[in-house]
Amino acid sequence: MKICKTIDELRSALDGKKSAFVPTMGNLHSGHIALMNLAFKQKQADRVDATVASIFVNRLQFLPHEDFDSYPRTFEPDCAQLEAAGCDVVFAPLEKDMYPEPQGYKVHPPAGLADILEGHFRPGFFVGVSTVVMKLFQIVQPRIAIFGKKDYQQLMVIKNMVRQMAMPIEIIGHETERAADGLALSSRNGYLSEAERAEAVHLSRALKALIAAHAAGGQDIAALEAQALAALAARGWQPDYLTLRRRADLQAPSAQDTAGSLVALGAARLGKTRLIDNMEC
Ligand code: PAF
Repeated sequence: MKICKTIDELRSALDGKKSAFVPTMGNLHSGHIALMNLAFKQKQADRVDATVASIFVNRLQFLPHEDFDSYPRTFEPDCAQLEAAGCDVVFAPLEKDMYPEPQGYKVHPPAGLADILEGHFRPGFFVGVSTVVMKLFQIVQPRIAIFGKKDYQQLMVIKNMVRQMAMPIEIIGHETERAADGLALSSRNGYLSEAERAEAVHLSRALKALIAAHAAGGQDIAALEAQALAALAARGWQPDYLTLRRRADLQAPSAQDTAGSLVALGAARLGKTRLIDNMEC
């Protein structure tokens, strides 16, 4: 496995090879490794010649009060896991190589998709994500890029960007990996205390309960969402949103939108840690 720190090194390592790409911010867990396993399968199936992962904690997608400085950086174990999963090239630029000058040109995804849910609670987040992903795509020029469905809205923002900008990249979404109790795997789970970790599963349970209550019919969605928020808050969480949306555009569903076309999404803070999760339904 080759580790490239600069754009030039990466370009000469790939030398025009068709690649399957997994962008990450490092601190890898088995959710990320599942993405790399899928990239490796693309190579085995001769769809690409090489697998690439990036490790870069992207300052542009953090708000000033967020955890950019304390975000866990675990480069050596990350590389060992990537190598074991069949990664050919790791791109791990320094900030001065990714952003040698202030990034004045940015990608602004449409407000209707990017200023709701995560974008509402983390203003500018999807500008930061879209900008770095656009830049990583320009650098790596992958044939295929793989993202986890845990960041459901992110996956949609990227898919729409690639489609509208006619970028020749196939975007594949991978199912969320979960711990045995159902907690979605996330680098931020590492911030949880033992007691918080035991409690954390209740975010996915709240989404399941919301889906079940909606399937049972009777009440309007806003009332069900308010109940779900109150139930989680009563357990000591500070929920940002728990909501049922249309998968197609993440807008509130109408009566015509039936099961199989929806997704339940949630974000909530437990102590100092903000967790997100979602389930298609
Ligand atoms: O999902 C992530 O880890 C990040 O948002 C990404 C896509 C690597 C961009 O920094």
